[in-house]
Amino acid sequence: MSFTSDIPLDPGLYGLDPAALEFFQQQTGITAEDDLKHHILAVQAKAFAVTQYHCIYSFGFTRLRISKHPKYQSVLQLGRDCRSALLLDLGCCFGNDARKAVTDGWPIARIISTDLEQEFWDLGHVLFRSTPTSFPSHFIAGDCLDPAFLSSESGSTSQSPPDLSSLASLNDLHGKLTAIHATSIFHLFSAEQQASLVRAVAALLSPVPGSIVFGSHVGHPKQGTIREEMLGVTVEMYCYNPESWNKLWEDAGPFETEAVLKEVIAPNGEIGWRMVWSATMSTKSTV
Ligand SMILES: C[S@@+](CC[C@H](N)C(=O)[O-])C[C@H]1O[C@@H](n2cnc3c(N)ncnc32)[C@H](O)[C@@H]1O
Repeated sequence: MSFTSDIPLDPGLYGLDPAALEFFQQQTGITAEDDLKHHILAVQAKAFAVTQYHCIYSFGFTRLRISKHPKYQSVLQLGRDCRSALLLDLGCCFGNDARKAVTDGWPIARIISTDLEQEFWDLGHVLFRSTPTSFPSHFIAGDCLDPAFLSSESGSTSQSPPDLSSLASLNDLHGKLTAIHATSIFHLFSAEQQASLVRAVAALLSPVPGSIVFGSHVGHPKQGTIREEMLGVTVEMYCYNPESWNKLWEDAGPFETEAVLKEVIAPNGEIGWRMVWSATMSTKSTV
């Protein structure tokens, strides 16, 4: 969720686990831990000035969440098994998860990242001290709630592989993606927007059995609107629970679904819930 708040950033929330430290040192070339912290805090402040997302405030972009997802290793295997497999990162922000997947072997030419804000992607180059030449990964800016950019209805009918360097919208990728990662994005939207986005994202997936959408975001044992104090303001968020979330996907296509709630402790000490989920195209799908 995003805020408009005067609360200052809190460097005390910064902390990299050993895997994240190694990843950021390797990506940025900054090995001294104090220098790395200083660099990450500086880019965080620039991004927070664009939009005040909680995941930026709380350093969610340093958690390497894609690699902690239970389906991550099998997704990487899809990339190795199929020479044409495409991976999309939806709501990519700095592109931290795409970079992690590339580091772990997903071919850079077959990954696409997308976000509402071009500026976050550009700041990703600052964060990781890269350029479009040194990290030539595909990015397309757009609003995933806008049917002109992403719709469940229309789409490309071409059987040939898409040219990722000249995409006009995500609709050009209908039925073509092997894997889609979506973390900390669905909970930004209303119940209806989330349900509609599920249908639109499902339409992007290849009908080949095993193609998969996976990610995590805020959930709750009881489906409904939750209200939380965050950064000095009360925010409302619509949370599905695992059963209702799975049902959205099962209604959108022939998916085998998994969703579990993990307890998380918020910076203010309150207990919250993160739903870790996936929807995999079942073997009953017709190709
Ligand atoms: C909370 S951040 C999560 C970033 C990243 N997935 C991660 O886990 O580190 C949410 C991202 O979704 C993007 N976003 C918000 N609304 C969007 C929309 N309507 N269409 C596309 N991206 C959107 C924001 O710009 C932001 O980068």
